[in-house]
Amino acid sequence: MRPDQSPVIRLSEYCPPDFLIDHVALDFRLHPSGTVVDAVLTLRRNPKGRAGAALSLDGEDLTLLSVALEGKELAASAYEVSPEKLVIPDVPDAFTLALKTEINPAANTRLMGLYRSNGVYCTQCEADAFRRITYFLDRPDVMSTYSVRIEAEKAEAPLLLSNGNPVGAGDIPGTTRHFALWEDPHRKPAYLFALVAGDLDRVTDTHTTPSGRRVTLNVYVEKGKGNRAAYAMDSLIRSMKWDEEKFGREYDLDLFNIVAVSDFNMGAMENKGLNIFNDRYILATPETATDQDYHNIEAIVAHEYFHNWTGNRITCRDWFQLCLKEGLTVFRDQEFSSDERSRPVERIANVQTLRAAQFVEDAGPLAHPVRPHQYKEINNFYTATVYNKGSEVIQMLRLLIGPAKFREGMDLYFERHDGEACTVEQFIRCFADISGRDFTPFMRWYDQAGTPLVTVRDAFDAATGRYTLHFQQATKPTPGQPEKHPQVIPVSLGLLDPQGQSLVSDDLFVLDGAEGQKTWDNMPARPIPSLFRGFSAPVRVEINRQPGDLLVLAGHDPDPFNRWQALQDVAIDLLKRSIAGIRKGEAPLADPTLAAALERLIRHSDADPAFAALAIALPRETEMAREIGQDVDPDAIGTAVTALWRFIGQSVGSLARERYDALSKPVPFSPDAASAGKRALALRLLNYLIAANPAEGAGLALAQFERANNMSDRANALWALVTADRPERDQAFAAAEARFRDDPLLLDLWFTLNASIPGKAGRERVEALLRHPKFTLGNPNRVRALVGAFANGNPRGFHAADGAGYRLVADVIGEVDGKNPQLAARLATAFRTWKALEAGRRTEAEMALRGLVAPDRSRDLSDILERSLA
Ligand code: PHE
Ligand code: ZN
Repeated sequence: MRPDQSPVIRLSEYCPPDFLIDHVALDFRLHPSGTVVDAVLTLRRNPKGRAGAALSLDGEDLTLLSVALEGKELAASAYEVSPEKLVIPDVPDAFTLALKTEINPAANTRLMGLYRSNGVYCTQCEADAFRRITYFLDRPDVMSTYSVRIEAEKAEAPLLLSNGNPVGAGDIPGTTRHFALWEDPHRKPAYLFALVAGDLDRVTDTHTTPSGRRVTLNVYVEKGKGNRAAYAMDSLIRSMKWDEEKFGREYDLDLFNIVAVSDFNMGAMENKGLNIFNDRYILATPETATDQDYHNIEAIVAHEYFHNWTGNRITCRDWFQLCLKEGLTVFRDQEFSSDERSRPVERIANVQTLRAAQFVEDAGPLAHPVRPHQYKEINNFYTATVYNKGSEVIQMLRLLIGPAKFREGMDLYFERHDGEACTVEQFIRCFADISGRDFTPFMRWYDQAGTPLVTVRDAFDAATGRYTLHFQQATKPTPGQPEKHPQVIPVSLGLLDPQGQSLVSDDLFVLDGAEGQKTWDNMPARPIPSLFRGFSAPVRVEINRQPGDLLVLAGHDPDPFNRWQALQDVAIDLLKRSIAGIRKGEAPLADPTLAAALERLIRHSDADPAFAALAIALPRETEMAREIGQDVDPDAIGTAVTALWRFIGQSVGSLARERYDALSKPVPFSPDAASAGKRALALRLLNYLIAANPAEGAGLALAQFERANNMSDRANALWALVTADRPERDQAFAAAEARFRDDPLLLDLWFTLNASIPGKAGRERVEALLRHPKFTLGNPNRVRALVGAFANGNPRGFHAADGAGYRLVADVIGEVDGKNPQLAARLATAFRTWKALEAGRRTEAEMALRGLVAPDRSRDLSDILERSLA
């Protein structure tokens, strides 16, 4: 392939900036296709930079109109300007630089920098897109105060927003235009700059902080959607209170604005005082949002708010430190959701996500450390490894020193580094100083990629009652890291007796070498070990279990995570054997003891429906592919998993029906976790009913769809029908399309449902829907809803043996790349498992990837292709 020409940026080559920018004054004259930006930068040489260095500013897609130094326009000979740089060789030690640039928001389909979303001007600058607004030292260790003037047509943009505080506004006499002035007193890196201008609906409220600051809170949404912002506002207020109570952090401005836009590459963005959201993580009413939507809104509103301290006031020195803000902030939002909802249920869901996204990433060609050592395109490192494994590393840190010391360490971090751009080392040092512990070995979690495999062997000496657990760890090589070293692995553990009584609990064993062991004496009988309680480390575990142990754990482990895990392990083990047999032409396997265990769970599901919903769900096909890890045959997996659902459905049928009917009694809708748990349980029961008897089950699902008084029940009915090849499915899907047609977020759900129909039928729908009048490559949500959902959530369709699924997705990626490289690159990561497939599919996938390689591909996509194919 053509080697990608982009330079490699390395952590080891970090140099402080040669100049600092103390203040930035921006003046935007907004126009859809020709916005003029006047920037006045107050610069001085950085004492830590290279003496006498030229000033070299970053730019992208800018038209430079003029440059003035200390108020004097520079002759063209005084600077060099290229598409990516503005270099001024001869500058004094301190000066102002005035830059006039022109940009075209309407033509900005990358959705980076200043662009238009549904008529609304908005910005996205992280990681390095501020340079698409003006020439700048576009790096997070350059922090400045900002004053901003925005001018626009009054009719088009009655609302003009930027970071910080509003300090003035007015009409421009003799024109149809007006302006607003904003000041942000907090120094910030350019990636946190934001501007919004448009005609939006608003929901407003206030929150008073413990120190007595009365903060005005606004959530802005597209016109006509104001009735859908209440839950986001409620989540924001709860987040503010939680951060005050749990971390002692309060908000630091009198105004906090959230704006929801419909065209957005990511989930949301934590711009100082002006968070900008993908509107699917803001908009919710019972009629339009599912339980998962409510959960996401709460978590993401919290996440962006929490960034105010972990990310904004203390930011990253460079982009290699991305986990410093993201891993930590994911940890904080997961803690918040655990406190607001059910801690065990949140933990299980988070671990499912980690395994589905991060373990898979770690096992393939895109594996990288939580803190990468090099990159070509930083946008490709907003990954499950940085975010979710980054959060797990903080979990382990807290486990190792305990919650009290952890809080003290956080306090020290905020006190010591407020206002700075930091490194991971500076963060970890705070915990080392507080606890006296040496974290040098622990730092390997940041620098070594790959998921450790911990192998456990136990031994019991009946004569002496001595019980020994022996641990070993090993990590497979990952790209660029052939040799792996042991990690510091905290193992939260307990021991149960054969009847399920607790013998040992709350024990913490730290495996910090290649091997280690722990011994107990005077054990009355061979204990059953419960290891990695609460998923105490992001590792895979293999253990020589005695037959029956898992079922005792499933029934009696005091740790709910491990109760859940035990049943999953039973099912995974059974499915692995079943899949291997199917590939040899044997019949799928079934297991009555598993069915009996699930039946017991269903019988007692009233106590905790949300937990039961997770515990009775069989492993997904994509999970089985990950567990098998090599020579994967998605069709054999599909056959085995489908057969097991059917077998268990038939075993638990009448009880499932009884419980489903009880849960289906109409009740007024509430989005709280307990109510959502009941709906989730009803869905799982419906899955079993459909698996056991498609005609009867599909009838129930269609009835649920028709009778639902809220979107969660309605969407769950549709989800249940996805796997039912039945006329009821077509009937419900057609009704859903008619019902959802005029609501983009609901239509996205409908596209996703179609793309999720297993196998060829799903692929054919995707092919047809690419030509649906409401399908567009311009809206990232729509592309992800159809093509992303197919590639990531329909393994039998995407991984069709003849390669048709790969070709379909590759064609879309190629087309998207010309418009929105970030979106194309992200879609392409669906191929990250290709090396784990059986030979035929591997060849097809590789061909599809190679077919995408071309000279005019974006840096974003080229980087993913190059690493995937390496
Ligand atoms: N910083 C954002 C978050 O995690 C994610 C993001 C990255 C958004 C890059 C846009 C662009 O909260
Ligand atoms: Zn974040």
